[in-house]
Amino acid sequence: MFLDASTSVRAEETATDTGSGQHQTGTRGKTSQALSVRFDNVCRAFPGKNGNEPHVVLKDITLDVVPGEVLAILGPSGSGKSTLLRAASGLDAPTQGTVLIDGTPVNGIDDRCAVAFQEPRLLPWQNIHKNVELGLPQGTPKAEGQERVERLLELVELAEFAHLRPREVSGGMAQRTSLARALARRPGVLLLDEPFGALDALTRLKMQDLLLQVHEAHPTTVLLVTHDVDEALQLADRIVVLGRKPRETAASIAHVFTVPGDRPRNRSDEQLGRMRLTLLSGLGVDTHRH
Ligand SMILES: Nc1ncnc2c1ncn2[C@@H]1O[C@H](COP(=O)(O)OP(=O)(O)OP(=O)(O)O)[C@@H](O)[C@H]1O
Ligand SMILES: [Mg+2]
Repeated sequence: MFLDASTSVRAEETATDTGSGQHQTGTRGKTSQALSVRFDNVCRAFPGKNGNEPHVVLKDITLDVVPGEVLAILGPSGSGKSTLLRAASGLDAPTQGTVLIDGTPVNGIDDRCAVAFQEPRLLPWQNIHKNVELGLPQGTPKAEGQERVERLLELVELAEFAHLRPREVSGGMAQRTSLARALARRPGVLLLDEPFGALDALTRLKMQDLLLQVHEAHPTTVLLVTHDVDEALQLADRIVVLGRKPRETAASIAHVFTVPGDRPRNRSDEQLGRMRLTLLSGLGVDTHRH
């Protein structure tokens, strides 16, 4: 699940030998501080099939995410949430507009980001320790790298399981491994695409707490795509809702909510409860009791 963009490509190259080879190197990747993200009038259209018009998925996305912010992105299925994250990571490029990280345009896979998907994508033949080590930037001195891996394994409570292979651990443990691997790169921006979507309800709550602890220990800007309104309310500073106007195919930003209260938040807070109903009805879920 949690992968940094460049490691994900390296891992996939190792596994399938089909990587794009776009990995950027250099000093930009040496981030250990949270970075700003700016979507500047981003639009993404995909070519139409069989001579049809291009399919415009996202348009007019302008948004500033401040360093260290946790921003949740909600929206109906197909509204372009993953497309937006892919544009930020450089895994995909907007057809118009620009994404800027720390004021510099994203142009190809960006090693200032770590990307995480719903599925863990660990290397099955490597143990947990080695999978985390894979996240270290190239050129990290050995002793420093080992110390960082060990600290991260402790943070995600996997130190005693470091010798196990991915098939020998639970889904939640696999995701914690991926989280540690993403953090090994010290990303300035952590992009999470439904990272807890495949987990049972209890593990999901634990992972949400862990993400808050991690965010505290390793300040980073987080863009979190989720379908779970409660997760967004629990974790985010702001929630962006993507939506389409009637008769339009392209989604844009329908609402931006600032979530009140410091984290960790009281799940039964009344103000959050009201925001929850607004969000659910904005997403087309009928919240009236019958
Ligand atoms: N590479 C692609 N080529 C053509 N169309 C694409 C491509 N990637 C995404 N799309 C289209 O863009 C739209 C948005 O897709 P996206 O995956 O970003 O939605 P999403 O909001 O993440 O949905 P979900 O909640 O189901 O994950 C969809 O209609 C999808 O078919
Ligand atoms: Mg998606």
